[in-house]
Parts: sequence; C-alpha cells; structure tokens
Amino acid sequence: GGGNKKDSGSSKKEASEINIGFSQVGAESDWRVANTKSMKSELTAKNGFKLSFADAQQKQENQTKAVREFITQGVDVIAIAPVTETGWETVLKEAKKADIPVITVDRQIKTSDDSLITAWVGSDFKKEGVKAAEWLIKEKGKEKGDVNIAVLQGTIGSSAEIGRTKGFKEGIKDQKNFKIIASQTGEFTQAKGQEVMESFLKQNKDIDVVVAQNDNMAFGAIDALKAAGKTPGKDVTIISFDAIKAALKKVQSGEINAEFECNPLHGPRVAELAKKIMKGEKVDKIQYVDEQVFTKDNTTKEVINKRAY
Ligand code: AHR
Repeated sequence: GGGNKKDSGSSKKEASEINIGFSQVGAESDWRVANTKSMKSELTAKNGFKLSFADAQQKQENQTKAVREFITQGVDVIAIAPVTETGWETVLKEAKKADIPVITVDRQIKTSDDSLITAWVGSDFKKEGVKAAEWLIKEKGKEKGDVNIAVLQGTIGSSAEIGRTKGFKEGIKDQKNFKIIASQTGEFTQAKGQEVMESFLKQNKDIDVVVAQNDNMAFGAIDALKAAGKTPGKDVTIISFDAIKAALKKVQSGEINAEFECNPLHGPRVAELAKKIMKGEKVDKIQYVDEQVFTKDNTTKEVINKRAY
C-alpha cells in the first residue's frame, strides 16, 4: 500500500521516466476538456512522464477495464478521475496487490480501506453547494412569497453531484420560503441539461431559480428558458458551477447571476504528487483547491480575458 512503490534507496527509478495511467471520466463538459488538457500538457516526456490516457465515456465499467489494463501494463502510478464514488473496491485491491499507488483527482472514491488510495486532489464540492445557498439567501432570502427552485443535478453518485446537492440543501434548510420543486440529472451535458429544463418548464410554470450543477447544463437551461419566452438572469435567477470562460461571459452579460468556481487545472498537482510518491516522499492524503465566487461585480473583462479555461 502507501505510495512507496519502489525501493526509495534506488536512484535509478528517479532518473527514468514515470509511467502513469490516467483514467478520465469522459468529455461531457468544457470543464472536463480543460481538465484533460491540463493533465496531458503536464504529464509529458519533457516533464519525465509517459502517459497512458483512457477516456471512459462517462461509464464506470470502462474505468475498471482501463485500470486493469494499466495494471497489466505495469505502470508506476495510476491516476483516476472517477465517474462515481462507489464501485471501486475490487479493482483498487488489484492495484494494491500489484503495488501500484493510486492518485484520485477531481472527484473522490469511497472505500472501506483507506490504504487503497495514496492521495487525492480536487474540489470541496459540498462547500461549493453551501456557498451557492448562502449567495441565494442573500439575494432572495427576504422575499415574501415562495422561492421556487429547480435543480439540474450532475451525474448521480459523482462527488460533484453529491457534494453540491448536499451542500445546497443544507445551506437553505432554515429558509422556509425556499422550495426545491424539481430536481433531476442532466448528466453534466448541455444537451441533457436543455432537455430536462424543457420538461421542468412543462411541469412547473413558476420556476424562480435554476441551480445548474455545471456550466454546460446551465447553457442548455438558458436555451430552454429562452425558447419558453423567459429571460434568463432576470425572470429566472441562474446559479451555476465551474466558472469556465464562456460562463463568465454570461455573468457579465447578465444571463447567469452567480458562478461557483470548480478548478480543473490539476495536471501540475498530479505531476508533483506522482513524482513525490515515486521518490518515496510523504504526500498529503487530501488536498483541496481554493475556489472563488463570480457575480457581475467582480467579473470584469480582465478577469474573463485571463481565464485559462
Ligand atoms: O467533477 C467535476 C465536474 O465534472 C464539473 O463540474 C463538471 O463540469 C464535470 O463534468
């Protein structure tokens, strides 16, 4: 277990390249594409890596297969951005048996045995949800009538969905006039986000707030609202997560009211972790990244131009 795969006394391994297998969720969102780009541009030969990349197309069974292939290949380190939190026990035990350290990135994995994962780096999704709730309370907490909220959830069972759903619900629990009147998954994609929003609008006439658990679903929801004759950002408050460049532009134009950042630039962090682990150095088991809130006041042109994703 642990990260100390190779004999830490041998400097031979340190000098040669690190074989790393990365099992990615898919390409469901712009955030994900930015995450893949960050990983690929950092885990290069120039930086001392040989990367095997596997796209799971949002299917956990593909990830299990990919991890098994990495084990067969005999990679030095396995990195996983997991689709869901559960269902990993068997394959992680196989990796442990092969003495291959596992780094999880972005979302997390739940295991009964802590030693199956060497380190994780990613977002505090629950905190993101809490921050969204706090923002909405400031914005609409004093309104007299009911505030009807529709939630477009991400992939059910993913850390991002679980944390954002939980954090938001807990954050609004004392706000008696806040009502979640609809909640369904849009799978983190724009097409599904639009489809689910269309069905929400057919069922519920009075949606005051849409909470989209990522930007691509927010874009889909915005299209659905416009098609229904509503003005997003005015008739309906739009809250979203990720804060990709295209979404920040919509904050500036007023179509999205608040953005809760999720940082995808994990490549350098994973590279550093992998190097330390291979050297037998101790690493932090859990590493959260800092994230911001964007509203119209702080989303300037400069901020948007500087945005790396
Ligand atoms: O796990 C992070 C989430 O996954 C991002 O919010 C979303 O855009 C991506 O697909």
